[in-house]
Amino acid sequence: MSADDQQTNIDDLLLENRKFPPSAAFKKNSLAVGTHLYDQAAADDEGFWAQQASELIDWDQDWHTICEWNVPYAKWFVGGKLNVSYNCLDRHVLAGNGDKVAIHWEGEPGDTRTITYSELLVEVEKFSNVLKSLGVVKGDRVNIYLPMIPEAAVAMLSCARIGAAHSVVFGGFSSQALADRINDAEAKVLITADGGYRRGEVFELKPAADEAIASTPTIEHVVVVKRGGNKVNMVAGRDHWYHELMATASDNCPAEPMDSEQLLFLLYTSGTTGKPKGIMHTTGGYLTHVTYTHKYVFDLHPESDVYWCTADVGWITGHSYIVYGPLSNGATQVIYEGVPNYPANDRLWSIVEKYGVTIFYTAPTAIRTFMKWGDDEPAKHDMSTLRLLGSVGEPINPEAWMWYRDTIGRGECPVVDTWWQTETGGIMISPLPGATTLKPGSATFPIPGISAEVVDDAGHRVDHGGGYLTLTRPWPGMLRGIWNDPERYQETYWSRFEGRYFAGDGAKLDSEGYLWLLGRVDDVMNISGHRISTTEVESALVSHPAVAEAAVVGANDPTTGQAIIAYVTLRGGYEADETELRNHVAKEIGAIAKPKMIYFTPELPKTRSGKIMRRLLRDVAEGRNLGDTTTLADASVVNELQKRAAEAPSED
Ligand code: WTA
Repeated sequence: MSADDQQTNIDDLLLENRKFPPSAAFKKNSLAVGTHLYDQAAADDEGFWAQQASELIDWDQDWHTICEWNVPYAKWFVGGKLNVSYNCLDRHVLAGNGDKVAIHWEGEPGDTRTITYSELLVEVEKFSNVLKSLGVVKGDRVNIYLPMIPEAAVAMLSCARIGAAHSVVFGGFSSQALADRINDAEAKVLITADGGYRRGEVFELKPAADEAIASTPTIEHVVVVKRGGNKVNMVAGRDHWYHELMATASDNCPAEPMDSEQLLFLLYTSGTTGKPKGIMHTTGGYLTHVTYTHKYVFDLHPESDVYWCTADVGWITGHSYIVYGPLSNGATQVIYEGVPNYPANDRLWSIVEKYGVTIFYTAPTAIRTFMKWGDDEPAKHDMSTLRLLGSVGEPINPEAWMWYRDTIGRGECPVVDTWWQTETGGIMISPLPGATTLKPGSATFPIPGISAEVVDDAGHRVDHGGGYLTLTRPWPGMLRGIWNDPERYQETYWSRFEGRYFAGDGAKLDSEGYLWLLGRVDDVMNISGHRISTTEVESALVSHPAVAEAAVVGANDPTTGQAIIAYVTLRGGYEADETELRNHVAKEIGAIAKPKMIYFTPELPKTRSGKIMRRLLRDVAEGRNLGDTTTLADASVVNELQKRAAEAPSED
């Protein structure tokens, strides 16, 4: 290999040979089997999406153009009109499914609510009228800052019903983060709660909202849901209790047909630098994309499945696969308010058993945490109803995938590893269960309708090996831009490779064309000229029985350019053995990838959505002062690691 090649390719080190073809039992009822989705989409992707849009969505007016594509701006189903809230609610009630449970909600303290489609519709019609009475009109922005309670879905659907765009801010974010997002969106109304439950205690939201509103001149009204029961300060004329407004609101608010390209929501995502980006999603294309993917990727049988996605509604996963996808498909789902370890480490499994959950969708960070807690926790519960498992948010290490399949899925449930982003709106790369032969740790192939390619530094297509993941064709759920910042939109996603959307992720293709996600390209290390993905070294570490979770970073090194530093969390009952782990990595993927140093730690620093913050670990490893730590879920973790890095003997 020339020095040049070494510069331009991300090395492909980890070889995973296990394969799981779909079982006959799963295939029998699989929605994807026998549909020719792949062939149809390959022959005519726009025609394929149009077919999904007309089969899966109710339109008030037909579109005249399927897709208008002027790089980098797409419009889908142009001229069409529809209402998202109608599609998620009214049409199911009109079809006679009003008594079907939409949401089994479980509060952290153990209180529950069962909400049917009819009940949800009444609530949404009322709240739509409440919003109108507060002066919200089509085109306005409404901010939502709530715990995981049904009112979050009600608020979102009510905005959609009247054509206001929502901007949901995760309840764990600070008042400053909330204020920045409200100001960028120039929101008129804020919907919040007194507080919510987390780890057995009430966390206060209203005081943080109050602090934010002190610097958000556009907010005219605040609606407060009573949940935590904590005392709050209500400002007369500005602040209103949700239950009081709802008590007198009319439950008649017909859904208004919206233009297909009407702004449905903004969702802010933090970039590597600078202020958060308001990712824009619109109506017809987005709803088509999430309805279609929720149906086929999760093989949803609405008449019998009980679906559960453990994300928070404050993230895109909550928007697309708790609110819009499942409700549009008329699914019955579980929504849980709290943390997975309250009152004990088996809380999620007790919920699976209680509601007979059949489809379970969570994140690798959660799966690795469950591994750490041990196999006894799921063993306490009958989880035989589970038939399909999903993963999203980070690359899933092959061993975590195997554990998930074996220990949670009894070795029978297919695992769908779904790659996508806030910007893509919906799932892009994933197996279709029943149709795809799975490989542990691979997101497999672009779903029908999506075109992805791996390219090298120069933008040339790579057919085998590592590179950058790009998308080559517009898709219905794609972001329509960054709110108020078209240049940044162009620059961030469309400037690196001409005519291609660049997602920021590395990926490799194996000899059978399977895609393996390698993490953010900012995380790729350069060791003596070899470009090694952190994901592969982490997966090698996690394949050792002692390791539950690992984070790997490249730290500056005078000899090798960068040196591999690993942070490792052990599984219960195992002892730290650095030499053993270093040798294990050498055996799995080669001596070049052997970590120079391994730190053992009970926790890894993560963002609030559960992604490992390698940037911070790099700062720690290189002895730098920490930059922005505001998105960190638990700051004490890094302080502890910093202390230990300072005490560590210098390596030779
Ligand atoms: C990462 C979450 C590997 C990726 C829906 C992406 C993944 C970022 C996967 C988007 C996956 C998400 N395998 N990496 N299955 N899913 N990612 O916007 O780096 O919170 O770019 O959307 O998460 O994160 P976001």
